[in-house]
Amino acid sequence: MTSLPQYVFWTSLTSLLFATTFTAGGSLNDVISVAPAAPNTSRPSSYTNASTILADLLSDYDIRLRPGFGGDALLLTMDVIIASFDAISEVDMDYTLTMYLHQYWTDERLSWSPDSPIDEMTLSGEFSQNIWVPDTFLANDKHSFLHEVTERNKMLRIGSDGKIAYGMRLTSTLSCSMNLRNFPLDAQNCTVEIESYGYTTSEVLMKWNHPLAVHGVEQADVPQFTITGYQTEDSIVSTATGSYQRLSLVFQLQRSVGYFIFQTYLPCVLIVMLSWVSFWINHEATSARVALGITTVLTMTTISTGVRQSLPRISYVKSIDIYLVMCFVFVFAALLEYAAVNYSYWGSERRQRKSGEEGWPVNKEDRESAVNVQKWVPSGFMDVSFVLPVASVAIVKRFIDD
Ligand SMILES: *[C@@H]1O[C@H](CO)[C@@H](O)[C@H](O)[C@H]1NC(C)=O
Ligand SMILES: *[C@@H]1O[C@H](CO)[C@@H](O)[C@H](O)[C@H]1NC(C)=O
Ligand SMILES: *[C@@H]1O[C@H](CO)[C@@H](O)[C@H](O)[C@H]1NC(C)=O
Repeated sequence: MTSLPQYVFWTSLTSLLFATTFTAGGSLNDVISVAPAAPNTSRPSSYTNASTILADLLSDYDIRLRPGFGGDALLLTMDVIIASFDAISEVDMDYTLTMYLHQYWTDERLSWSPDSPIDEMTLSGEFSQNIWVPDTFLANDKHSFLHEVTERNKMLRIGSDGKIAYGMRLTSTLSCSMNLRNFPLDAQNCTVEIESYGYTTSEVLMKWNHPLAVHGVEQADVPQFTITGYQTEDSIVSTATGSYQRLSLVFQLQRSVGYFIFQTYLPCVLIVMLSWVSFWINHEATSARVALGITTVLTMTTISTGVRQSLPRISYVKSIDIYLVMCFVFVFAALLEYAAVNYSYWGSERRQRKSGEEGWPVNKEDRESAVNVQKWVPSGFMDVSFVLPVASVAIVKRFIDD
């Protein structure tokens, strides 16, 4: 005797079977023969049918030979969905991308009768070990992996006409050579290069699955960059072993300067302004002025060390180097200014002592002129200091324009 839940379950199952048979084009008689709402634990025949088809397909299948072997080149279409766009590293000159890569081709050996009620089969990724699959690789990848949670992220779908869709989800770290001359106001082009490892253009032709070749770029969020655009390209790469088709996806990235404004530019401006404070401190307060000068110089060193740590050891001059060096020069000049003032002050006192005058200079005028900042600083220094941020930015800008 079946309980009520069990009864409901079996009824649903048979209705499902009913629907399947009906939509798959089975005759009404078939439907009626399946209809009885009694528990039937034997395998529905569509399993057997599918298993028979698969066994048939693989019975004389030679996995080593590409579809259309000996004939025309196989047409391999691709599309890519960008799942996420992760860390871009200037130090290693690479970036990390998680994407779905789909490849489509036709293998006539894997087609079966169109009369069969089954016209498409989605199989587990493991099935790809039994059939020929393209030897696609990412030409500029450093290391990649397929995701394995909860199962290996691979998909294989075969249609009755032999059309195959083969998908996988992978995370790849791809090299991207960067020109950092304009750093941090630079733009970079990073690519994904897809190529067949062994098959030359006479055997496998790849093309982008236009117009839906790339998805998900709009949703991708890249730290520190904005994606201003992307392009798909295809080219032929000639190597010693032949010429291969290469599909490239080029991302155009523009660095967002906001991070550097707060981490570098603003602190530098403030440190330079801090170094001016010593101009208003009494020249006799040696320890205060020296401490201020040294501290600002050291802080500038620290800031430039911080910036350098996030960059590779490239020998050419970057925009940010010019800016930092300019700031450093101004801070250093403020320290030197004190040395000059101090020297002139004590020097003039010694002169006065030698000339027989007693004690501390009587001539107040002389004493003032000895300490007067304006006299010892090259004329215009103060003005230049005030326009430092503007001047440096202008210099940086000029380098960018070059
Ligand atoms: C179970 O179903 C199969 C075919 O789907 C049929 O041949 C068999 O007679 C059924 N068994 C019962 C007990 O209904
Ligand atoms: C199994 O395949 C045969 C012919 O290939 C078809 O007549 C039959 O209806 C199929 N059975 C099911 C359940 O799909
Ligand atoms: C990136 O590619 C675009 C389009 O091909 C080009 O106009 C631009 O100059 C490139 N940028 C860099 C930094 O190479």
